[in-house]
Amino acid sequence: MSIQATKLRVLIGKHVVLSGENLVANMGEMTALVGPSGSGKTTLLNCLGLLLKPTDGQIYLDGQEAAAWPDRRRLKFWQKKAAFIYQDYGLISDESVAYNTTLKAGSLFRNRPYTDDRLTEILEVVGLSGRAKDAASVLSGGEKQRVGIARALYKEASYIFADEPTASLDAENREIITGLLRKAAGRGACVLIATHDERLASEADHVHTLAS
Ligand SMILES: Nc1ncnc2c1ncn2[C@@H]1O[C@H](COP(=O)(O)OP(=O)(O)O)[C@@H](O)[C@H]1O
Ligand SMILES: [Mg+2]
Repeated sequence: MSIQATKLRVLIGKHVVLSGENLVANMGEMTALVGPSGSGKTTLLNCLGLLLKPTDGQIYLDGQEAAAWPDRRRLKFWQKKAAFIYQDYGLISDESVAYNTTLKAGSLFRNRPYTDDRLTEILEVVGLSGRAKDAASVLSGGEKQRVGIARALYKEASYIFADEPTASLDAENREIITGLLRKAAGRGACVLIATHDERLASEADHVHTLAS
């Protein structure tokens, strides 16, 4: 089980964004995609998460060639296997931390008892105990990123794609997020991170460098 990309090329107009990337990312490991701004980290991450179809090249997911999967197959991958931790993507700000983590309509706002032991455990792991009922909109940047990770853990996502997950966080929150991503890999996930945070990259099992 892994993601393997061979000779990935992405052309946007006439601009060569990726010019033949080869990469293997294993389950249980954290792989960092690093390189200067504009070097194609996000583009590569988007290809590996099947959000963007490469111009050329192959992406093997669990051994299956996935780059040309039709929408239905990609949707299944996103629903069942993948979690995305993207800065401006995914959290519904009017909804509670509980909803944003589980994506299940709970009864938190209807005076019925609500228990979800896994949710409680995972919120504890990410340091958001007692915040289940809070709206996502009241959370700090670091807390929002932690909800993204909580969602990935709750879902037991096999693949976690994170784009600059520590950007604009203070040192303490950077450390927390780094530790949580490591923990997700420790639970067996294949964790892929686009980052220019050297501390985060230094915690990765593999570093894939993109040239500018
Ligand atoms: N949709 C797009 N249209 C035009 N250019 C794009 C698009 N997406 C990315 N690029 C260009 O591709 C290059 C790589 O972008 P990106 O993958 O975001 O790099 P990074 O994440 O390393 O900063 C940049 O030069 C960027 O301007
Ligand atoms: Mg980027």
